[in-house]
Amino acid sequence: MTKSLLVLAGDGVGPEVMPQALRVLERVCERTGLTVGISTGLVGGAAIDGEGRPLSDDTLARARAADAVLFGSVGGPKWDGQPFDNRPELAILKLRSELGLFANLRPATVFAPLVEASTLKPEVVRGLDLMIVRESTGGIYFGEPRGIETLPNGDRRGFNTESYSTPEIERVARVAFELARGRQNRVTSVEKANVMESGLVWREVVQALRDRDYPDVALSHMYADNCAMQLARNPRQFDVIVTGNLFGDLLSDLASMLTGSLGLLPSATLGAPDAAGRRPALYEPIHGSAPDIAGKGIANPLAQILSLAMLLRWSFGLEDEAKAVEAAVIAALADGARTADLGGTLSTVEMGDAVLERL
Ligand code: NAD
Ligand code: IPM
Ligand code: MN
Repeated sequence: MTKSLLVLAGDGVGPEVMPQALRVLERVCERTGLTVGISTGLVGGAAIDGEGRPLSDDTLARARAADAVLFGSVGGPKWDGQPFDNRPELAILKLRSELGLFANLRPATVFAPLVEASTLKPEVVRGLDLMIVRESTGGIYFGEPRGIETLPNGDRRGFNTESYSTPEIERVARVAFELARGRQNRVTSVEKANVMESGLVWREVVQALRDRDYPDVALSHMYADNCAMQLARNPRQFDVIVTGNLFGDLLSDLASMLTGSLGLLPSATLGAPDAAGRRPALYEPIHGSAPDIAGKGIANPLAQILSLAMLLRWSFGLEDEAKAVEAAVIAALADGARTADLGGTLSTVEMGDAVLERL
């Protein structure tokens, strides 16, 4: 089997954790005979420095052509002075929207060896296996009108628009229902239907889709503020959460701390399959460039490695290899391997070693 992969390491800790995931990929290739044609590109702040823009047309075209994109992280204080329409974060936003990557899957799994690492009590988080499906090409991130204007009295006004239409809601809800069928068969749809019209439409569309096409799946609805509280109170009540772009961003960072560290959470962002069944996809940790620890060689590479596992599963169809990588991560943790965010002393590379030794 031959696959093509575009690797975009980006900024900050991105280029530190990415090589650890690529070492794991190399090992998987040796084990399976898989051949991966890897190309690399600049993205985010690195691309601003090198190419003047956070995402060049060439890099975007190569992302489109690849079987999958493995992404690190973008942004950092170095680029704070960039014009808003040339900031590093636009790279990931543009990749999501241009490639039609509307479903951002963010699994929050508490690995048994890390039960004590969570800031929550072990009895609250033990065994947690939650999947957040975050809509990722719509909502207030992309809604129009948006902008900044100066009012007649000289005051400034910044504005954004939250908007969701039936097809945007249906396609992401479909992903959530399908995933639920392979899990505990429960979906919680999260919005603010008590305040926002977009939330009201979201709720109605998700319910109608469930009644029409997924009557076997248990669906409940929850306001986003309550969901944040419930995630801290009793996270195991959830199986699959489906929600909009902004709420999904917030709730997934919160969910990461249930697992022990933001440095553990991977994600897959998927588009719709084309006629040939090929599905555009990008894989990235949910964390950012971590400027406070960048350059020290201490970032946790597990979110990047687990993102690679998701890539093996969703884009390369290598379920057994994905499981093997996940098992190697858990085995390393069980043997006490910990980076600083988990209270340990291993460097990024040593944590990569620990996973490879067990793979
Ligand atoms: P962040 O996720 O970069 O960091 C938040 C905290 O988590 C920091 O204390 C950091 O040290 C820690 N952390 C993150 N990843 C870690 C890892 N792998 N190992 C150990 N600790 C880790 O969020 P932030 O500080 O709010 O944002 C920094 C920059 O990253 C900003 O420019 C932001 O826009 C950008 N960002 C990018 C992405 C992305 O590229 N997908 C995601 C989130 C934030
Ligand atoms: C994430 C990040 C991005 C987002 C930023 C960097 C644009 O926070 O992937 O969670 O808000 O989607
Ligand atoms: Mn985020």
